[in-house]
Amino acid sequence: MNDAKEEIKSRLAVEDVVGQYVELKRAGRNLKGRSPWGVDKTPSFMVSPEKGIWHDFSANKGGDIFTFIMEVEGISFKEALEKLAAQAGVDLGKYRGGDPAVSKKKVRAKEALALATKYYQVCLTRSKAVCEYVFYKRNLNRATVTEFKIGYAPPSGKSLTEVLKKRGFTEDELDAAGLLNRFKGDMFRNRMTVPFIDTTGSVIGFTARILDKGEPKYLNTPETLLFNKSRYIFGLYQAKESIRRNGFVVIVEGNMDVISSHQAGVKEAVATSGTAMTEQHLKSLSNLTSDIRLAYDGDAAGVKATERAIMMAGDLGIDLTVISNYHGAKDPDELIQKDPKLWQSAVEERIPAVDWLLNKYEENLNLRLAPDKKKYSDVALKLLSYIKDEIERASYEEKVAQKLNVDVEILREKGERLNQKLAQSGKKYFKKPKTELKNDKLKKLENSLLAIKIFGGVTKTNIPLDVPDDDTRLAELELIFNREHEVSHTDIEREAAELLARYDAETKRQKIAELSEKLSNLDEDDHEYNNIIREIDNIRREG
Ligand code: UTP
Ligand code: MN
Repeated sequence: MNDAKEEIKSRLAVEDVVGQYVELKRAGRNLKGRSPWGVDKTPSFMVSPEKGIWHDFSANKGGDIFTFIMEVEGISFKEALEKLAAQAGVDLGKYRGGDPAVSKKKVRAKEALALATKYYQVCLTRSKAVCEYVFYKRNLNRATVTEFKIGYAPPSGKSLTEVLKKRGFTEDELDAAGLLNRFKGDMFRNRMTVPFIDTTGSVIGFTARILDKGEPKYLNTPETLLFNKSRYIFGLYQAKESIRRNGFVVIVEGNMDVISSHQAGVKEAVATSGTAMTEQHLKSLSNLTSDIRLAYDGDAAGVKATERAIMMAGDLGIDLTVISNYHGAKDPDELIQKDPKLWQSAVEERIPAVDWLLNKYEENLNLRLAPDKKKYSDVALKLLSYIKDEIERASYEEKVAQKLNVDVEILREKGERLNQKLAQSGKKYFKKPKTELKNDKLKKLENSLLAIKIFGGVTKTNIPLDVPDDDTRLAELELIFNREHEVSHTDIEREAAELLARYDAETKRQKIAELSEKLSNLDEDDHEYNNIIREIDNIRREG
C-alpha cells in the first residue's frame, strides 16, 4: 500500500486537498489558514506545499494528505486512501494485496448501482403520477431531488434487471449489488427510490418507499459487500461540509426527515437508516463534531435510543442534546411541511440528553408516592452512572435528590450500592475509561524537543528522543521548528534545556497519575500495592 500512497501523493498537491476544507493564504513558503477544528483565534493552520504536509498548531495535530482526510472526514485510513485514489485517478486495484476478486466484485457492484440510479432517475421523469407524489405530496423541489438522486423503480418486476443484463452484467453481479429479489427479478418495484450514497459519493444501495399505503413502507438493500447498515450514515455525504463548518450534527430517525431538513436549510441532518444507532455510527460522527443533537420521537423507542446513545457517548467526549419541540408534528418532515422556520429554530432549542431523559422518566410516575420514588431513583441512578465528569454527575445527583426530596448523600449511597451489586454480578454499567494514549501537553513538548534537536543544531543538551525516520514526520517537525522555534535561534540552547525540564516534569506527572490509577484498583493487602507505592516514591525523589 505504500506504493499506492506515494503515487497518490505525487499526483495530489497538499494545498489542493486541504484547500477543499480550509481557506488558505500564502505566507512565505507556506500557506496559512484557520483550523478546520475551529479551536483557533488566529490562523494556526499551516500547509507546506514543498513538503506535502500540514500542521494545526491549535489542535496540535498534523501529517500528510491521508491523515488530513482521516481527521477531517472522520474516516479510516482505508477509506481516506480510496477517496484520495479516486481524486487522483489512481487505480488501487493494481496495488491491492487483498483478494483482487473481491475488489473486482465491489467495482462491478458499484457500476451496476450507478447505472440503476440513473435508470431510476429517468423513470421518475417519465411517470407523471410519481412526479406528483415526489414534487407535490412530499414537497421536494428539483434541486433536492437531484442532490439526493431520487428516482422511481417501475412496477414491471424485471425492467432494471433487463437493462443491466443488456449492459453486460451477470445475475451474480446484480445479486451482489443487492438489486435482485429471491426470484432473481428486480428487488424494487413501483417504489420511490432513494440511493444510499457513501462518503466518497458512490451509490452503495437503496431505500425505496411504497407510493400508497402498504407493507413494508420502506424496502432497503440487504447487507452486501458494499452496504453495511451498522456503519452507514444516511445523508452524511451531503451533510459533512455543513457539519464541519457549523460544528454540529442533527440525527433524525427517518431518511425522508434528512432530505426535508436539507431542503429546509438545516444541512447538518443525517440518519442511521432503518437501524438503531451503533457505536460505529457515533464514533464516525464524533470525529466530525462533539455537538451531537438527537431529533428522536418522544415515544418509548426514542427514550431507548437516547439511553443507548448516552451509554456509548461516555467514552467519546460528546455533548449529546435532544431536540424535542416539534410543535405537535410527529417528525421533522411533518414539522417542515408546516413551516421550515419552525424546524430551523427547533434545532437551536435543544436540551441536554440527560435532562430530557430525567423528564421522560418522571412523566409516568407520581413522585409524591414512595414506590414511584424508588422506580425513579433506580432509572435515574443508572443513567447518572454513565456520566464521566464528576462535577456534571454531582450536579445531576443534586437535581435528582431534590426531585425525590431526599438528602443527596442518601441518593449517592444507593448509587454506590447499585454499582457494587452490578460489579459483583460482573455486569458493570461503568465502562473502564480508556487510558489516554499520550496527553496533549506531552505530545506538544515532544514535538518541540524533536524539532529543535533535529533542526536547531542543539549540542549542549542531550535530548533523549529518537529521531524518526519517516519523511512526513520529519517534514512536520521542520514546519514546527520554523514556526515556533526559529525566531529564538540565538537562545536555542537555553530553550532546549527549558523544554527538556518541562518534558521531564510532565512525564513524571503522567507516570504518577497512571500508577495512582492502578493503585486505586488494588486492595491494600495486594502485594503489588506496596510495589507501586515504592515506585511512585522513587519517581517523586528522582531529580
Ligand atoms: P418512519 O416510518 O418514521 O419513516 O421510519 P418516515 O421517515 O416518517 O417515512 P415517511 O415520512 O412516512 O415516508 C423511520 C425510518 O425507519 C426505517 C427507514 O429507514 C425510515 O427512514 N424503516 C421504516 C424501514 O427501514 N422500513 C420500514 O418499513 C419503515
Ligand atoms: Mn415522516
